[in-house]
Amino acid sequence: MSKHILVTSALPYANGSIHLGHILEAVQTDIWVRFQKLIGNECYFFCADDTHGTPIMIAAKKAGKTPESMIEEVQKEHFQDLTSFGVEYDNYYTTNSEENRKFSESIYLTLKKNGHIVSRNIEQSYCEHDKMFLPDRFIKGTCPKCGAKDQYGDSCEVCGTSYSPKDLKESYCSICGNTPVLKESKHLFFKLQDFQNQLKTWMEEGNRLNEGAQKKLQEWFTSGLQEWDISRDGPYFGFAIPEEENKYFYVWLDAPIGYMASSLNHLKDEKKFNEFWKDGKGEIVHFIGKDILYFHGLFWPAMLMGSGYKAPSQLNVHGFLTVNGEKMSKSRGTFINASTFAKYLDVEHFRFYMACRLGSGMEDVDISFDDFVSRVNSDLIGNLVNLVSRVSTSILDKMDRRLGNLSAEGKSLVSELLAKESEIRDAYESRNYSKVMREITGLGDKVNKYVNDYAPWNLIKTDVEKAREVVTTSLNCAKILFTYLAPVTPKIADAITELFQIPPLSFMNLTETIENKVLGSYQMLSKRVEEKNISLMISETKEAFEKSNPNQSKQEPSKSNTNETKVGSVSEDGFITIDELSKVELRVGLIKEANPVEGADKLLFVKVDLGEKGIKNVFAGIKASYTAEELVGKKVVVVANLKPRQMKFGLSEGMLLASGKDKSLSLFVPDRDANPGDLLK
Ligand code: 2FM
Ligand code: ZN
Repeated sequence: MSKHILVTSALPYANGSIHLGHILEAVQTDIWVRFQKLIGNECYFFCADDTHGTPIMIAAKKAGKTPESMIEEVQKEHFQDLTSFGVEYDNYYTTNSEENRKFSESIYLTLKKNGHIVSRNIEQSYCEHDKMFLPDRFIKGTCPKCGAKDQYGDSCEVCGTSYSPKDLKESYCSICGNTPVLKESKHLFFKLQDFQNQLKTWMEEGNRLNEGAQKKLQEWFTSGLQEWDISRDGPYFGFAIPEEENKYFYVWLDAPIGYMASSLNHLKDEKKFNEFWKDGKGEIVHFIGKDILYFHGLFWPAMLMGSGYKAPSQLNVHGFLTVNGEKMSKSRGTFINASTFAKYLDVEHFRFYMACRLGSGMEDVDISFDDFVSRVNSDLIGNLVNLVSRVSTSILDKMDRRLGNLSAEGKSLVSELLAKESEIRDAYESRNYSKVMREITGLGDKVNKYVNDYAPWNLIKTDVEKAREVVTTSLNCAKILFTYLAPVTPKIADAITELFQIPPLSFMNLTETIENKVLGSYQMLSKRVEEKNISLMISETKEAFEKSNPNQSKQEPSKSNTNETKVGSVSEDGFITIDELSKVELRVGLIKEANPVEGADKLLFVKVDLGEKGIKNVFAGIKASYTAEELVGKKVVVVANLKPRQMKFGLSEGMLLASGKDKSLSLFVPDRDANPGDLLK
């Protein structure tokens, strides 16, 4: 019996361009939706732009536009970028819609009527000049911990400390530069804790979340659920809260309700809508990134439970996209916009590669361009596309482009491929796309071996009928493999149907063979990736960043994953030259301050005085054998010219030398008296 599924991916904010991170999620969702449709389920894919909030209001003001006209332009651009990657929505709407206003008001009023909303006064930063309360990101100042200037109101990008904007020193409004004042106003809160038990039951029943996400929710339950501030004072671009003066719904209240608005706008019919959102057997499946799990795993289901709707059936949570193993970086040219990728490379290659990398868990997903080139060129082009391309031009021409009957050997190969169907379906269903891809390429290898063994390019010269038999087998196998691959590479699937002159590929017509049939002309299914296009894409991204940030472009430190305190020299023959050694600047450092790092088991954060070179911040993995107290006043040996590295907890600007590891780790110290900053020779 066919299932009824309503699928969403997270709504992109309407104040920035679509980048590859968004595309990863859209593609992951689209593959799943296409698969559901191809196996005969009734499935809808709804999304929208997330249009409300202060940043959008300010951006519009800066651009001299109304927020309404800005979000309209951005929505068009977003839709264009997302769909250019083959993402096929049933509706791509906006949260600034009448449907959304009505749902937001009625959900809120029901929650209020049921006693889940309370109000109380809170104090917040206010700009007297701009006449508005400032969200944390719109307050800047000096970090109370490390003294770095121009840091945001919620956390310091230099030392990684999180704080409240009230703790910032010399704080200023990032819009006008004036000093904010503290001002009181009434706020409305949603009592999330009223739903603790219901949420726990919801989380534990069924197969709603992957293990990592479930663990994270469990941690939040253990640390206790808090009331959630759902109101903002005007001026604010959003929906006014009914029965209140100058209060607006916080953007995160109406954003997920946007899923419902997009659904109703498409389905029109209330009965159909209710089949998913209220009483019917329809399922709701959300795809989201791990950064917004709190909203979707707690607030959102609780809002639905408290207002008479069904909570989601499934939350599929993915990790972040990294490029070449690192966080995407504007200055390194790896923060790539969707449109820039599409300008230089084939979007279907991105879909293919992402499918090779995606599992069902929350791990980050990496696109390494060397690997991208080799996977696409060998697995997609060299293996799968090649099965079709090498027999579909001159060889087929020489046999009047007509396929024959499947031989016994052909049938047995076809059956071998068909036998994998249920495994492939299960892997798609559980979003284990990398497994799907392994299965398909494994089967492709087998078929290629069969073709190579018979070499139809030789047979065609001596035995046309035998060549026809081999080509018939090869192309019937290709039809099955490209059906398996159709959710990932829909454009290639379409080209195959053109060539074979058959209805669209689907799991429902998987077993239909193509025999005794004249085929259409061959159009190139997909081309190899050209490496030069990758360099061009990265250069363009870098240049765009350098143009808009002339002072910052050279400064962004590269990220390193290691906290090692030992010098690890790498060379090809095991030696380094005296010249190479002289590049390493070793200096005496005096530890002025040392502190544990919250959330890090092995690290201590030290401030080390290097004399004329100044004081450097270093994260050192030495906690197993040193306490913070005993380090202060110690002289140590520091690699002083190590390129600063952005670590998870902040920027590390040097390295302390040590030997041993764990409890027996021992810092190098100068033997006799030495002064901070002295160079070691
Ligand atoms: O994190 C974001 O990009 C949000 N705009 C996602 C919203 S998803 C949903 F709740 F609307
Ligand atoms: Zn201001």
